[in-house]
Amino acid sequence: MATHNLLLLPGDGIGPEIMVEVKKVISWFNAQGGDSFETDEGLVGGSAYDAHGVAISEEDMAKAMAADAVIFGAVGGPKWDSVPYDVRPEAGLLRLRKDMELFANLRPAICYPALADASSLKKDIIEGLDILILRELTGGVYFGEPKTITDLGNGQKRAIDTQVYDTYEIERIAKAAFEFARTRNGKVTSMEKRNVMKSGVLWNEVVTATHKNGYEDVKLEHMLADAGGMQLVRWPKQFDVIVCDNLFGDMLSDVAAMLTGSLGMLPSASLGAADPKTGKRKALYEPVHGSAPDIAGTGAANPIAMIASFAMALRYSFEKVAEADMLDKAIANALAKGLRTKDIASEGTKVVGTSEMGDAIIAELNALSA
Ligand code: IPM
Ligand code: MG
Repeated sequence: MATHNLLLLPGDGIGPEIMVEVKKVISWFNAQGGDSFETDEGLVGGSAYDAHGVAISEEDMAKAMAADAVIFGAVGGPKWDSVPYDVRPEAGLLRLRKDMELFANLRPAICYPALADASSLKKDIIEGLDILILRELTGGVYFGEPKTITDLGNGQKRAIDTQVYDTYEIERIAKAAFEFARTRNGKVTSMEKRNVMKSGVLWNEVVTATHKNGYEDVKLEHMLADAGGMQLVRWPKQFDVIVCDNLFGDMLSDVAAMLTGSLGMLPSASLGAADPKTGKRKALYEPVHGSAPDIAGTGAANPIAMIASFAMALRYSFEKVAEADMLDKAIANALAKGLRTKDIASEGTKVVGTSEMGDAIIAELNALSA
């Protein structure tokens, strides 16, 4: 029986509260026998800054590099608004993504049947929605140099961010998109701004060339990213896999999250390349939502995106597809019983807190495995 090592990085705001619920789920799987999960914990974001003066310590970074998977909560909050830029809470997450080379960020947007009414869009537009946003995660304007603010000396300052992509970065994310599409509905929509940006021209070129080179069984469509954002709210079910750069992926995935009812519902997986010898990938799993400082400590946070992120870990890091399906089903069943955290509440449903939602999902796991 294998033992898998998880590094838990709860982070800030609601991060620690929702991580408590994932720990319940991990203990539940450990109690079933079979493979087991060993967990270690570290600090990231503002909590790491308070303890060590940096957004993640070298020691925790080393643990992340060695772990079979990192389970990440959320970072940031007003408390750290004025800390120096390079040690701001988000820098911890960005360093993890960069140093672990997690170039492929999977952000599925699935509308649970019970939540079709919670979306701000009409029910028929989002009912049955199942799309995957594949966001490039280690390049683009997030990491491009120069990245500066310069004093021009005349009372003006100049800010520069650099959007930069090399062929290999676009090619590997395009390949991942085509491969995921093959396991789904066979369609990829690539989004960029080739009408304005050189990086968009190259993106379009490389995605097209990669498609011709062994992936022509998958349907490929190109869309300008602004039009893509509009289509995402107009008729989201036209999409299967959307592939885009780091910044467009950040924005479009927040839009997609709201289609599903709440940002509190969207899990994500960030994966590196498969090791040629072991086939293993470095991986980090995190909810798409942030640290929600406004509700931190109130027990109202929705733990579903965090728990569904662990389901993605079961699926993508540990090849436990049946277990991942069961956990996803347990979430759907808890929702089907009418339980809702505040963010997804609607008329006729029962509003519960973070830990009650976690317990309800455990109860559904018990029922499913009985
Ligand atoms: C996300 C977040 C991060 C990002 C922040 C916290 C740096 O918004 O994962 O979508 O911009 O990538
Ligand atoms: Mg974001």
